[in-house]
Amino acid sequence: MWLNNLRREPGAIDMSLAGKSVLFVYYTYSQQTRLVVEVMADALRERGCEVRLARLEFTDPQYAGRFSSFPLRHAYRDIFGMVLPQLRGVTGQIVIPDEARDSHYDLVCIASPTWWLHPCMPIRSFLESDLAGTLLSGKPFAAVAVAHRYWRDDLKILKQLGVKRGGQYVDGSHFTAGGGPVDSMLALFSFLSTGVTKDRYLGIKIPPATLPPSYVGQAQAFANGLVDRIAEASIV
Ligand SMILES: Cc1cc2nc3c(=O)[nH]c(=O)nc-3n(C[C@H](O)[C@H](O)[C@H](O)COP(=O)(O)O)c2cc1C
Repeated sequence: MWLNNLRREPGAIDMSLAGKSVLFVYYTYSQQTRLVVEVMADALRERGCEVRLARLEFTDPQYAGRFSSFPLRHAYRDIFGMVLPQLRGVTGQIVIPDEARDSHYDLVCIASPTWWLHPCMPIRSFLESDLAGTLLSGKPFAAVAVAHRYWRDDLKILKQLGVKRGGQYVDGSHFTAGGGPVDSMLALFSFLSTGVTKDRYLGIKIPPATLPPSYVGQAQAFANGLVDRIAEASIV
């Protein structure tokens, strides 16, 4: 890793990464995961990688309707209605883009919003599909959990599911909006029911509901760390 970093001029294409391909598989509802993925993708392109994004579409007849528009129409019902299916690991119907039906990638990064402590249903559905096995088998993969506050089990399960599909886990990261246990929940309900960030909800002061600006630097550093390992592996 140190060799690679020493050789690289800022902004210069890293020859050991030229032609290396990276795929991001992600789902997003309120766009926070998309923002993280896009920053990581740009950082990798700057290093000379070929990057593809595969955003899963959630089409399940029973569960996806509530997520078809933003903000949620019935925030409490829509969010609490996902508790049991999420905690039971229920899977649902998704559309997998063509980018994720190929198996030639040098690295796959799976990014999931946290829904009731676990990876969201669309990402679990993907990771339990045969296609995920084709994509991940024998391949290095990374995992990213994007949560309001509670990311830990999401990341742990992403890793477990990817390994179960034959993937070789490289590293993981998490991104959170922050706040305390109660006020972060209020901020989440406020954001998902109104679509905008506010200072107060039900008269109570709430923390920001979206990722802090520091997510950009964090995502760049994580992406660079991942491909440093690929570069290192390819010059050894
Ligand atoms: C149904 C649902 C359940 C959620 N459960 C949790 C949770 O258990 N812990 C948490 O920290 N955030 C939870 N969140 C918040 C999301 O993880 C967070 O807003 C994330 O940034 C969403 O990613 P997205 O903007 O890419 O959709 C939940 C959101 C939804 C919609």
